[in-house]
Amino acid sequence: MDNRPIGVFDSGIGGLTGVDALAKSLPNESILYVGDTARVPYGNKSKARIQEYSDEIVQWLVNENCKMIVVACNTASSLALTHLNSKFDLPIIGVINPGVYAAIQATKTLSIGVLGTRGTINSAAYGKKIKLENSRISVISQACPLFVPLAEEGWISGDVPKAVAENYLAIFKESNVDTVILGCTHYPLLKTVINEVIGGDVSLVDSSEATASIVQSVLKQKELSAEGSVGEVHCFVTDSPDSFSSLADRFVTIKIQSISHVDIS
Ligand code: DGL
Repeated sequence: MDNRPIGVFDSGIGGLTGVDALAKSLPNESILYVGDTARVPYGNKSKARIQEYSDEIVQWLVNENCKMIVVACNTASSLALTHLNSKFDLPIIGVINPGVYAAIQATKTLSIGVLGTRGTINSAAYGKKIKLENSRISVISQACPLFVPLAEEGWISGDVPKAVAENYLAIFKESNVDTVILGCTHYPLLKTVINEVIGGDVSLVDSSEATASIVQSVLKQKELSAEGSVGEVHCFVTDSPDSFSSLADRFVTIKIQSISHVDIS
C-alpha cells in the first residue's frame, strides 16, 4: 500500500482528459497534475526541447514525492519517454503503448489509423509499436494540428470542425482502416465530429482511457496502490491559473481540489 500521489503531466490543459480517466477508474489515488501552459504547444517542438521540458517536470514531481509518473501528453510520450525511463527510477508510463494495445484488440481488418500532433506523427512512435506487436497490421497516420486550437476554443461541433475533420480524415476514405487511435490529449473532445466524418463503424481508441487500466495494473503489480483514502486532484500550471480554470471543465467531469501556479524551469 502506498498513499503517495501519482504525478501526471502534459504540455497544457489537454492532459486533464487523462486525469479524468485515471481519477474515475482509481478513486483512491491522489493525482498531482502539471500543465506546462507557459510552454504549450509541444506538438511542433524539437525532440531535444521536449526532453528538456519533460525532465524538469518529472524532477519536480519526484521532489513532490510522487510514486509513479504518467506522461499524459502524446508528444512527450513519443519523444521523451525512453529518455525519462533511463534517467529516473520510479515507474513512468506513457500513453503510446496502452493506445496501441487497445487498438490492436479492436481491429479486425488489421488496418489502424493514427491521429496526432506533427511531433507524434513524425516520430512514428505509434506506427513502430504497432508493427513491433504485429507486423501484418498496416498503419495510416495523419497529423491534425488544427484540432488542438479547435478543442481549446470549444469549437467541437458545427461547420468549422467538420470541414477540418473532412480534410484530415480524407486519407482514410479508400482504406481498410476500422480502428483509429486518437493520439493527442485534445482529440477525445472532438470524438463526435470525428465519428460523424469517419463513419460510425470505425472504432475510436482514446489513449487516455486505455492508459488508466495499464496504470491500475502497474500499481497492483508493484504494490503501490493507495488504500482507504479518497483521491484528490491538485493541478499546477506554469502560466496563470486563470485561463486554465476557465477551460478545465471542458476536459474533466471529476472534481479538481486546487489549481495553482508553479515555476518549473
Ligand atoms: N498534449 C499534446 C499531445 O497530446 C497536444 C498539445 C500540444 O501540442 O502541446 O500531443
